[in-house]
Amino acid sequence: MATSNIVPEHEVPLSIVEKGWKSLHLTQYQGFWRPLKFLSGVMACRECFEACKDDIILNTTPKSGTTWLTALTFTILSHTRHDLDNHPLLTTNPRELVPYTSARYADGKVPDLTNLPSPCLLSSHLPYELLPTSIIESNCRIIYLCRNPKDTFVSLWYFLNNFLPEDEPPVPIEEAFELFHGGISIFGPFWEHLLGYWKASLERPERVLFMKYEELKKDPTFHLRRLAEFLGFPFSLEEERQGLVEKIERFCSFESLTSLEVNQSGKTRRGNPNKNFFRRGIVGDWKNHLTAETSEKLDQLSQQKLEAFGLTFKDVGK
Ligand code: A3P
Repeated sequence: MATSNIVPEHEVPLSIVEKGWKSLHLTQYQGFWRPLKFLSGVMACRECFEACKDDIILNTTPKSGTTWLTALTFTILSHTRHDLDNHPLLTTNPRELVPYTSARYADGKVPDLTNLPSPCLLSSHLPYELLPTSIIESNCRIIYLCRNPKDTFVSLWYFLNNFLPEDEPPVPIEEAFELFHGGISIFGPFWEHLLGYWKASLERPERVLFMKYEELKKDPTFHLRRLAEFLGFPFSLEEERQGLVEKIERFCSFESLTSLEVNQSGKTRRGNPNKNFFRRGIVGDWKNHLTAETSEKLDQLSQQKLEAFGLTFKDVGK
């Protein structure tokens, strides 16, 4: 991974449309919605970020399990450097350990990412189409984790309500649903975000790994082995014999991460509580929030947009 030393001039296009999720106004940029305040970071990152072949980029739509994927990948990559009994994740939220690429460009400076351990692990919510060209051209590894739209929506609704002033009531879920369904969500449209990475994973499976939150939940050790192999660090026979896969699974589980002080009362570098990254961590919580009608509406849209490409979320229930 390398960084450019040219600080570009960034201008926000004048033709922007702003639509609200009340706590977060979104701007459409090249077909995708993102917060206006982060737009310059996206543009700077696209212009200046220079990926290397060994880099590993984690990508998700927000609330798809980014924190979990980050913890798992970081732990697999660093297990020879860090013992699980004395591990950075015990005192640091996973999101703080892995630089979030475009946010590091947000203040108009080119960040120094040169002192990160190799291989360099970075994360991003950028749609495939908006990734810096160097990420595609360098042929570095990309891992994408997606989640069924119904649980993602519910998780996003809770998450964004956290940012409202204390005296503001939550955004009515019906209102938020209409925005999400209409494609207006952070880094949305949700379906297009998934499809970009899905198609890339079909074209270049050795460089783009596509994972689903629900499958990871159902069989974590199988997917951990898959992840380690993809990363080029498969578990050795000795590590298997020592139960390392199961240990990493437990170490990064929802229960384990939420029991840590840092994730209960710590804050991110922007001052937001780490606990906002954890809520229930289950599949199917949408059943407690969506009506039969809204659930059906999202199912239909997902079917319409994704099934023709072979992407389904059938085990999430009706
Ligand atoms: P819920 O709101 O449904 O509970 P992100 O990390 O992309 O922001 O996603 C947050 C979602 O992932 C939240 O979902 C959160 O509870 C869940 N999550 C966080 N850590 C997890 C873990 N270790 N295992 C499973 N789910 C986790």
